[in-house]
Formats: sequence, C-alpha cells, structure tokens
Amino acid sequence: MKRDGIQTSLWQPSVPDFTSRYTSLPSNRFDVVIVGGGITGVTTGLMLQKAGKNCLIAEKHSLCFGTTGGTTAHLNTFLDTDYHTVKEKFGEENAQRLHMAAEQALQLIKKNIDTYDIECGYSEQEGYLFSQDEKQTDQLNNIYQSSTNAGCNVEWANGIPVPVAFDKAIVYSGQGQFHPTQYVMALARLFEEAGGVVLQNCSVGTTKGEAPLQLETSLGLIEAEHVIYATHIPPGINLLHFRCAPYRSYAMAVTLQDDKYPVGLAYDMQNPYHYFRTQEVSGQKYLIVGGEDHKTAHVTHTEDCFRNLEVYIRKYYNVDKIAYQWSSQYFEPADGLAYIGHLPGNPKNVWVATGFSGNGMTYSHIAAITLSDLIVKGESVYSELFNPNRVKPAAGFANFVKENVDVVKEFIGKRLSQEKLQSLADLAPDEAKVVKYEGESIALYKNESGQIYAVNPVCTHAKCIVDWNSAEKSWDCPCHGARYDVSGQVLTGPAHKGLEVIVLSEAVKEKH
Ligand code: FES
Repeated sequence: MKRDGIQTSLWQPSVPDFTSRYTSLPSNRFDVVIVGGGITGVTTGLMLQKAGKNCLIAEKHSLCFGTTGGTTAHLNTFLDTDYHTVKEKFGEENAQRLHMAAEQALQLIKKNIDTYDIECGYSEQEGYLFSQDEKQTDQLNNIYQSSTNAGCNVEWANGIPVPVAFDKAIVYSGQGQFHPTQYVMALARLFEEAGGVVLQNCSVGTTKGEAPLQLETSLGLIEAEHVIYATHIPPGINLLHFRCAPYRSYAMAVTLQDDKYPVGLAYDMQNPYHYFRTQEVSGQKYLIVGGEDHKTAHVTHTEDCFRNLEVYIRKYYNVDKIAYQWSSQYFEPADGLAYIGHLPGNPKNVWVATGFSGNGMTYSHIAAITLSDLIVKGESVYSELFNPNRVKPAAGFANFVKENVDVVKEFIGKRLSQEKLQSLADLAPDEAKVVKYEGESIALYKNESGQIYAVNPVCTHAKCIVDWNSAEKSWDCPCHGARYDVSGQVLTGPAHKGLEVIVLSEAVKEKH
C-alpha cells in the first residue's frame, strides 16, 4: 500500500493496495460523488450507498494514500480541543453535543466491525490523560469537570499505563484502537458489494453548474446531485484555507526487549503532546508513540523530529527495534472544531469535511453521520455545531488572527527573504534547497545517484513558496499544506496542479 511520503507507516505492509472493480467510469451520472478515498470518504460513501444513494468514490492516488495511511488510529471521545475549551468558546450545550457526536462516531466504528465481521485488530481501551506540573494539573481539573458535564465516562486514576512520571491523571472509558487501513479497505469492499463505484487514480477538478453539478475528472465528465470533498482540505481557494492551519506529527512503532507494552491509550499534556498505545500486527506487538508536531514547512531538518522522538521513547522503554517511523499531516481549525457541512462559496449541494485536528478517526465518522443525514434527510443535529460557514469571532478570533498572520507572512515575508544567490554546485547528494539562478527561484533536489530534480518553488495553490521536508523527501507548502514529490507531482492537496518542472539549461548542468 502506498502513501504520501517516503517513510513507511505501520499500516502499509500488512495491507495490499485496494483492487477496484472499475478502472473507468461505468456511468456518467451519480447521486453522490465523494472526492477522496480515505477513512472519511469511504465511511461516508458506504453509509450513503446503504441508504439507497448511487455513489462514486474518486481517489486521485490509491485508497488510504493520504493521512489515513499515516494516522496512529486512536479512537477517542475526548478530543484535542478539550471539553473545557469547547464549553468556554461554544457553551455547555455544544460541549454535550460534541461528546454525543464523538460517542456516536465510536459506536458506528464498533457497529461496522461487528456487523460486517471486519478483522482489523479492534479493541476497546481506556484512555489516560495525565498532568506533570501544577499548571497542567489545574488544567486537568477543569478538563475533568467539563468532561463529566459533557457526558463523558471519566474518573480520576491512581496510575497510568506508561512509565512516565505524572502528577494527576484521569481515565476515560469506552475508547478504542484498531488497524485503520484494514478497516477502511474492508469498508471499501463492502461499498462496492453494495453497488458503489471506487475509482482510483482519478483526479477531480472543481464543480460547475448546480443541479446537477458537473465535474471534470481525469476519466471523463460526471454529473452528480451532490459532491463531497473528503480530501482532508478542499481544493481551490476557499475561506476554509484561512481557517485551517496544516501541521505535521511524527510517529514511531517500536518493538520492546521486555514485554512492557502499555495496555490502554495515554497522553501527556505537553505542547505538542505525546501519545502512546500498543497494536499487534501480524502476530507482533508494537508500541506506537507520537509527537513532535509542528506547522507544516516550519521545520526543514525534519529528521530531528524523529531523533527527538526516539530519544524520548528510549528514556522510558527498552527498545529492541524501531520497526517503523513516519510523519503525517493534519489540519488545525481556527476555533477548535471541525468544519463539516456546506462548502462555503459553492452551490448548496457541495459538501466538505475538514479541520479534524489530531482526531481524524473520530471526526471521519462524525462527518459520515453528519453528511449522510444532511444529504438523505436534509438535516443533522450536528449541522450548526460543525457548520463551515459559522462566524465565531469570539470563539476562534485569537487563533484565526494568529494563523492568518502566519499565512500572510508566508505570502510576503518569505518570498522577500529568499536566500541570496547560491551556487548550485553546493548541493550534496540527497540534499535539497531553493536557490536563485538568473533571477529565478528554483527548488532543487539531488538524489543519492546525483540526478537533479528542479521545480518552480511557487506553490500552484495560492503562490506561497514551498519548503523542503527532508524526512519525507517532499516539498511542503507552509500556507495550506500542499505537498509535492521531488519531481513536482502533487502528494497532498489543496493544490491540484504539480509544481512547474524546470528544465535545467546545459550551463547549469555544467556547474555540477
Ligand atoms: Fe495554499 Fe500552497 S497550499 S499556497
């Protein structure tokens, strides 16, 4: 199974690529076209197909190529935006509604696994959140109280499942874990059995018209009553690109010399926080630890993030082998809650799900429930809470401004402060940089065997300058998270077009 980086995640080797029944369009008319074949798109597709809609899931690469293949698959009813923050910003009633949505999402995962007998290493777990200093403990007190008020089943805990010093801890019951790509591939097979169409290697442009919507795809023109963008962040330039900030998180799956694998899910309260769990895959247990998050393209030497994470893990565990290490992208919403519903600036039958923070597994199913209700019944109890058109200056203003300042700075500041003219000959094997050559910026990468890839570093989405991600060998955009491989091909949206390929002149080549 492939994904959007050169590092291999724990979820890839044990799952073959999905083989679809279709390689071309069997029809040009669908009730619902879902763009994006990750956990959100596939779950939503299955729900809608089962509800009698004729659906197409169109995936630009192969199923689970994006963040679904790089998650650490924690199934939580408590989210990155804690219930205390949600209560402060959105009110008590909305905190309760958020909990209800998260609870319903986890029940849907469990129901799918039970009903369809899906083998995906699922188990119910307890989730521990622990403080390590006085300030965190004050915060934890608030979180405990507001979680209880929101309806969570949460208690104070005497111990935690990881060997990390802590001050106080709370434990949420009814959490879970699973093998995410086994789960999604099984749902995709069920979707096809129910009459749905999965098309991989099918890119989709923006919509035209209204009833029906017209979609240009790489495999032909399609008409649809509804279109859902389950692409992590929608394509085009949209209000939501200024309300979501891209981040990357790092994960390792390690084997231990002893058998001290934690039983349960655990989270510290550092910023960024660390997260722990265990998963057995093909008879082997793995400790999975994540953290070291940063805004996309704000760290160039991304290998350091893996190094720091490894040092952290070795401090607490007798590591036998680092079996897998990978990084993955997520989008932080400006006011703390996901955006699920009508895509701003589009006809009313165009839908979106984005801004899931680090809670993609839970939010994917909240999105499936919300969007299928909106499409089938015309309403959802969650439509107001996650409304992408919401105006909540009080709720998210500080963050919104902060993220936008950053975006604006990237637009103007970084372009002006490009490195001075650089000699192309400086490039070592496996090194990349943006250089100036004859007044033009060029993003260069030299591979181990000396082959040079040259592309225009101006992101095709909204013209920010991409930065090198050395761990995943990709050009990442700091503004809205688009990512490109060394030859300029799009790995991650919202960019639709690849980076312009620059043909190096003989004169430049000679310099090497
Ligand atoms: Fe928007 Fe690059 S992703 S400018």
